[in-house]
Amino acid sequence: MSGIQEEVFGTRYESASRYVDILATRGIDWGLIGPRESDRLWDRHVLNSVAPAELLPEGATVADVGSGAGLPGIPLALLRPDLRVVLVEPLLRRATFLEQAVEELGLGDRVEVVRSRAEDHNGRYDVVLSRALAPLPRLISWCDPLRQPDGVIVALKGRTAPDELAAARRDLERRGLVGEVLTVRAHPAVEPTSVVRVRSSR
Ligand SMILES: C[S@@+](CC[C@H](N)C(=O)[O-])C[C@H]1O[C@@H](n2cnc3c(N)ncnc32)[C@H](O)[C@@H]1O
Repeated sequence: MSGIQEEVFGTRYESASRYVDILATRGIDWGLIGPRESDRLWDRHVLNSVAPAELLPEGATVADVGSGAGLPGIPLALLRPDLRVVLVEPLLRRATFLEQAVEELGLGDRVEVVRSRAEDHNGRYDVVLSRALAPLPRLISWCDPLRQPDGVIVALKGRTAPDELAAARRDLERRGLVGEVLTVRAHPAVEPTSVVRVRSSR
């Protein structure tokens, strides 16, 4: 696996390894990452987080809503120095973890931590990202107000993506939105995953 990680992150591999070390130590100690995750931090969390990188336009502003321990926002910021990323997380312990990780990884000039619920935040972004946040209708109600008029919502959903999109179709229509399921992956040798991408229908 380590050859794949190096290929994906290239010159940013050392920083990505450092982030994995932070997850494996403080992330587990502070209860943000389950102890059983320590052997699969790279494939299940970090490589999964960067799978949608190809969907993010060059120089985009990105909100990672419900960032938790920084997934997917921190791996994407490490992989893509062109992005400006805001990590939106309401819980104090998680926001403190994120602030420390951002500083230790030297990302402070373009990654900001905002301690807030999505519905209380009033930024506007080109891409509103999330992973393991909420069922699609609730996720849309939180993320749509954070989207620039021509921006997109990208939700990492995995296997449930088609069913969640079908169940949310009426909510989307009511809001003037359209959604699609896209298959993405970080590297040809890793399992693909599914995301739901939502944009304005007008
Ligand atoms: C299951 S965790 C997922 C964390 C991370 N995205 C990941 O994939 O590991 C969901 C996160 O969403 C945050 N959250 C819950 N309600 C939220 C809200 N209304 N606005 C923003 N974040 C919220 C929680 O505090 C938690 O950190």
